[in-house]
Amino acid sequence: MAIQYPRYIEELKPYIAGKPIEETQREYGLKKVIKLASNENPLGPSPRAVKAMKAGMKEVQLYPDASGFHLRQALAKLEKANFDEIVLGNGSNEVIELLIRTFCIPGDFMVASDGVFAAYPISARIQGVDTIFTRMTQDFRFDLKAMLEAIKKNERVKLVALPNPNNPTGAYVNEEELIPFLKAVEKIRNGTVHVILDYAYWEYVIAKDLPDPMVLFRKFSNVSVLKTFSKIYGLGGLRVGYGVLHSELAKYVQKVRMPFNVSNLGLVGAEAALLDHAFVKKSLQINRKGMVFMQKAYDQMKVPYLPSQGNFLLINARQGFGMSGMEVFQECLKLGVIFRPVANYGMPDWLRVTIGTPAQNAVALKALKTVQKRNLAIGGLA
Ligand SMILES: Cc1ncc(COP(=O)(O)O)c(C=O)c1O
Repeated sequence: MAIQYPRYIEELKPYIAGKPIEETQREYGLKKVIKLASNENPLGPSPRAVKAMKAGMKEVQLYPDASGFHLRQALAKLEKANFDEIVLGNGSNEVIELLIRTFCIPGDFMVASDGVFAAYPISARIQGVDTIFTRMTQDFRFDLKAMLEAIKKNERVKLVALPNPNNPTGAYVNEEELIPFLKAVEKIRNGTVHVILDYAYWEYVIAKDLPDPMVLFRKFSNVSVLKTFSKIYGLGGLRVGYGVLHSELAKYVQKVRMPFNVSNLGLVGAEAALLDHAFVKKSLQINRKGMVFMQKAYDQMKVPYLPSQGNFLLINARQGFGMSGMEVFQECLKLGVIFRPVANYGMPDWLRVTIGTPAQNAVALKALKTVQKRNLAIGGLA
């Protein structure tokens, strides 16, 4: 007899990860490949984290501290939060999953905008929770009015996903828009609709009007804040993220969480990275300089891009190259550069390019210019 899988598992479209360097080297017979596909820190990991993990290696026969005591204490200090408001995750992605599991039963709904970070609808779907998508505005921003309407309309909406800034668009919701939105959501169904403020790129933000999530957390009882060690701390492979959750909710999420979801190397590495202020500062400088450099180059190449508050830019491959994002991605792979096509976000004309080191940015631009020139020669942009 054939196995009956749940409909939502059968129809699930899995997360598409960035193409690995080694795989690209193998497939294309290339020695040198750079990856600007997953919004990773081009400087590598925080050196203080590496040192702490080396020391921690001597004790990997032991299970990790299930309570994550030291890291949570350090995070509580950083966020000016209580110890019991901090929940650790195997990447912030796991905290997304945990929140959905804690809040929802199959048949409930999450509201999110088109173009939202893909982990949200996927994490919801695997738990039988469908996402109600609202259209983005003309300029690829979240339409909070439409989101509010969608929340009001369906009694079974339990969660709202709000990555700020969002990935892959880089767009953000400013204070003036976000506070009235949160106030309005708080009034719906006695404040039972919960908003996830995902600030994975918070440390990179330049915009002055992008609100501090912890201020919002203190103001609203139906808000959780997510952050990660995967971006500015350079620890994407370590898989450590965290949520700041109100105590009662945190208590439930702690029950739902498996005890050893963050490894002991993850715990010590992340704790050390938090103190690596010099590394964070350098990472920020590299990103800001790289961002300006790449924007200028795209302007010269007449490649449109969306303004971004993260460590990446979404460029319009259709207008800039006369090709789809996937086609530019494939052409650049042959030249040893991995970018990220975003057709799975309903944006087939676009390509996401992570900001690299100055040397990586130069290689990336060389590849993009080569592809653009070639396509011009064959009349692709006519
Ligand atoms: C908006 C957003 N949130 C969360 C994450 C996930 O981060 P983590 O590595 O902590 O699971 C990412 C990663 O790309 C992201 O873009």
